[in-house]
Amino acid sequence: MKVIYAGSFDPVTNGHIDIIKRAKKIFGEVIVAVLNNTNKKGLFTVEERKDLLRQVLADEDNIIIDSFEGLLVDYAISKGCKVIVRGLRSASDYINEYTLSMANMNYKDGVETVFLMASGDTLFISSTMAKEVAQFDGDLSMFVPDVVAKALKEKLLK
Ligand code: PNS
Repeated sequence: MKVIYAGSFDPVTNGHIDIIKRAKKIFGEVIVAVLNNTNKKGLFTVEERKDLLRQVLADEDNIIIDSFEGLLVDYAISKGCKVIVRGLRSASDYINEYTLSMANMNYKDGVETVFLMASGDTLFISSTMAKEVAQFDGDLSMFVPDVVAKALKEKLLK
C-alpha cells in the first residue's frame, strides 16, 4: 500500500527518517511530500528540502520525494492514497494531530491517519531545535544526518 508522509521538512531530521523507514516497512511504499507553504517562508526552499530528502534517503527504494500546495487530503487523493502517516512525540503533538486527523477524515473521501510513535532516541528531535543548535555551531549529530548538518551550518553561520 502507498501512503503519504507529509510535512515541512525544514529540514529533514533523524526523527523524520525513522518514521519514513518504519512506515515503509509496514506499508511498502511512502510518498514523502514537502508542503509548499506560500504563507510561510522557511529556512530552506522547497527544492532544497527535497534535495536533502533525496540525499538522505538515496539508499531506500519505494520512497518518492514530492511537494504539494493546498490541502493534504486533496493531494493524497490525487495520488491515489487513502492513508496519511504522522509521527507522534508527545502529548502536545497528540492534541494537535488528533484535530488534524479528524478534519482530514471528515473531509470528502475519508482519508485515514495512522500514527507511529517516535522512537526513544528521536523523541526530543525537531527541525526547530536542529536550527537552534546549528545557529550556535553546536553538535548536530543526534538531530540530523551529516549532509543536513552541513547545509544548516552553511545557511546559519555565514
Ligand atoms: O511538518 P509539519 O509542519 O508538522 O507538517 C504539517 C502538515 C504539512 C502535515 C500540515 O500543516 C498540512 O497538512 N498542511 C496542508 C494544509 C492542510 O491540509 N491543512 C489541514 C486543514 S484540514
